[in-house]
Amino acid sequence: MGVGSGFGKVILFNEHFVVYGIPSIASAIDSRTEAIVERVKDPRLLVPSGNEGSMAGDGWVLEDNRPANPGYKKEKYQQQKESVLLVFKAAGFDPTENNIRITLGGDLKAVGGIGASAAVCVSLARALNDEFRLGFDDARINQIAYEGEKAYAGTPSGIDNTASTYGGLLRFEKNLSGGENRIELLKVKRPIRIVMGNTGITADTKAAVAGVRERKEKEPAKYDRIFREAMALVGKADAALRRYDLRALGRLMNQNHTLLQEIEVSHPKLDELVELARRNGAYGAKLTGGGLGGYMVALTPQKRLQEKVARAMEAKGYEAFRTMIGV
Ligand code: PMV
Repeated sequence: MGVGSGFGKVILFNEHFVVYGIPSIASAIDSRTEAIVERVKDPRLLVPSGNEGSMAGDGWVLEDNRPANPGYKKEKYQQQKESVLLVFKAAGFDPTENNIRITLGGDLKAVGGIGASAAVCVSLARALNDEFRLGFDDARINQIAYEGEKAYAGTPSGIDNTASTYGGLLRFEKNLSGGENRIELLKVKRPIRIVMGNTGITADTKAAVAGVRERKEKEPAKYDRIFREAMALVGKADAALRRYDLRALGRLMNQNHTLLQEIEVSHPKLDELVELARRNGAYGAKLTGGGLGGYMVALTPQKRLQEKVARAMEAKGYEAFRTMIGV
């Protein structure tokens, strides 16, 4: 039996800008997906249970026991299946030669915007590596997971699978000429509490990315100015993290949210949650991930503050996820 895990993630600075080579900062969160890979001797045993998310292909069967938002597994069924095949291919693994059962679990809830798909790719690559002694290092696991991510996101920047593979806080810069991305791990002295507020709206990241591209082409002067500001901001955020200056970090998150509003990837519900978090004492708050719905993140270093902000969201009927970055 082989096992592997992958972290969920949150983007703290410069989602969208990252697509154009501007550095971004992301962190793994304190929840993960776990994959188990078992060899199956008798191919007649490769029958999916019929539970939501269970599936099978030539030489493999997958059971998805992850906690999930209602409907998520059904919606992602096809992409998940394609993604498993892409991971096999990238890992050079042929299930028809070695029949396997894959079981997904762990405490990361399968919802959009917290890197759930990347966590599946990473955990599966690690479990295959473990069971078949493939000798992959983290860099290779990360590459394989990136291939698997393509089934969900077209050509993603790679920030999700990177955070999911390495854990911790990291600065990520996409290499626009196709070479290796620049990844730098940022150490903080203690993990930091956050709240992730869920708008309840399932947004389409691909469409959000395409919208930015279209507007950027139409209004180059405006977008050049915003992109320059995003570039300057991430340098300051990096420095604030290294000093563990969480007040400064929060202010910079607020500024990042303004830039994301300017490129039109926010949503009235995201803005409402961001305002609510700030009014309740969060050091800073912004949308996170693709935007147009999905999640926002609030910086709430103390446990009491985290609880207060989360409860304020819940009182308005939103789901609030209490977790930590820098773990
Ligand atoms: O929707 P998420 O959480 O996977 O984040 C998307 C992040 C973007 O920067 C908008 C796209 C990308 O590929 O980096």
